[in-house]
Amino acid sequence: MKKIIISGGNVLDGRVAVSGSKNAALPMLLASLAIEGESVISGVPKIGDTEVALRLISEYGAEIVRYEDAVKIDTRGVKFCLPSEELVAKIRASTYLIGASLARFGEAGILKYGGCDFARRPIDLHIEAAEALGAKLLGDTLYSDGLVGGEINFRTPSVGATVNALIMAASADGESVIRGFAREPHVLSLIDFLSSAGAQIMLTDTEIHVVGTRLKNGRGRVGPDMIEAGSYIATAALVGGDVTVSGVPRDELSPFFSAISELGADFSLSGDAVRVTGIKQPGKARVVAAPYPRFPTDLQPIIAPLMARALGGEIVDTVWESRFGYLNTLRSFGLRFDLIRHGAKIYPSELHSATVTAPDLRGGMAAVMTALLSEGESVICAADTVLRGYENIEEKLRGIGADVTVSDY
Ligand code: EPU
Repeated sequence: MKKIIISGGNVLDGRVAVSGSKNAALPMLLASLAIEGESVISGVPKIGDTEVALRLISEYGAEIVRYEDAVKIDTRGVKFCLPSEELVAKIRASTYLIGASLARFGEAGILKYGGCDFARRPIDLHIEAAEALGAKLLGDTLYSDGLVGGEINFRTPSVGATVNALIMAASADGESVIRGFAREPHVLSLIDFLSSAGAQIMLTDTEIHVVGTRLKNGRGRVGPDMIEAGSYIATAALVGGDVTVSGVPRDELSPFFSAISELGADFSLSGDAVRVTGIKQPGKARVVAAPYPRFPTDLQPIIAPLMARALGGEIVDTVWESRFGYLNTLRSFGLRFDLIRHGAKIYPSELHSATVTAPDLRGGMAAVMTALLSEGESVICAADTVLRGYENIEEKLRGIGADVTVSDY
């Protein structure tokens, strides 16, 4: 296991570049199993989750070649299998094997999927999407004699179920209509990828129309990671100094910029770069995490330390109502809070160093940020969960003057 050792209190100074988006790369990597021939995806971050995704599809016989941030996936020799339970349980994106395996082989096992354990994470919508396109669930296996176009009406916008619906509809015979879908930027990247492989996909405000085909030779480009960008911007605002974060998908972060402005963050935007110097005039904010384009749930743990450093605030999460376990971890650093219905009130706090266990990916990053601010040595144990989602975090933080070491224990 890894731990992150931080000697906090350094003023931050320098540039940090945003990597490719984890949650955009994963759907493309796993969807490539449904695509015949060779697919090439660029901008893929080297993080724990993408490594696991590649190992998963290689278990089916896909041949993988990596060159810098590009991945070539050759699926000419793939065969149906049940992937190893240990790998499937490591990441949430292994749910995308439901769509990819059904589309390619007419069969998909329902397995014990992994990912951050901050809430109950059902897969009923994924299964309903498969059934709407003609698949049948028998025991723990979905079967189909060939997916056929159909209507999929989601009662709540799920990123994962939308990804699976798109993979299956793009491979199905005939036209499908998907309603109530998630419209995160990573869903749009997947649409481009499946279109490059031959599917005809049209998006309106309320519907996605998909004409399926035998998918061949996809080409995909992973865009910048809005959550990583938000994490470094919030870190620089929290700790203070003079940091420029480059490659920021600004348009995707509007609600985040509004919230950090209310908290008093001093930042300026120029092209895709954001220069941050700290907190100018501390303020308060109320954040309601909700599906895109509203404030992202994955940034709500990241903004909590900033609220504690400013004049406090309130966070409500409508996507994962119980995603507040990370506050118990931040309490060890002195962060004061009260839980409320589906949320938390954060109070201005005197923060100090601590030794903690990373509760999950974003909660672990919030602990890293708090440690960077706090004088003295902090240790974040079980940090593999943070490394699953942040590329070269040690190098990036050192590059802006932080005293950070990742080591085995
Ligand atoms: N839901 C259902 N039934 C389902 C699927 C989802 O009721 O079959 C509900 C969930 O309980 C939740 C809501 O729908 O209340 C949204 O869940 P969604 O399916 O969108 O989440 P996900 O696809 O499992 C992805 C990201 C998460 C991110 C959420 C929300 C990936 C690999 N994971 O999860 O990212 O929090 O969307 O934006 O894309 C992270 O990166 O730290 C992370 C947890």
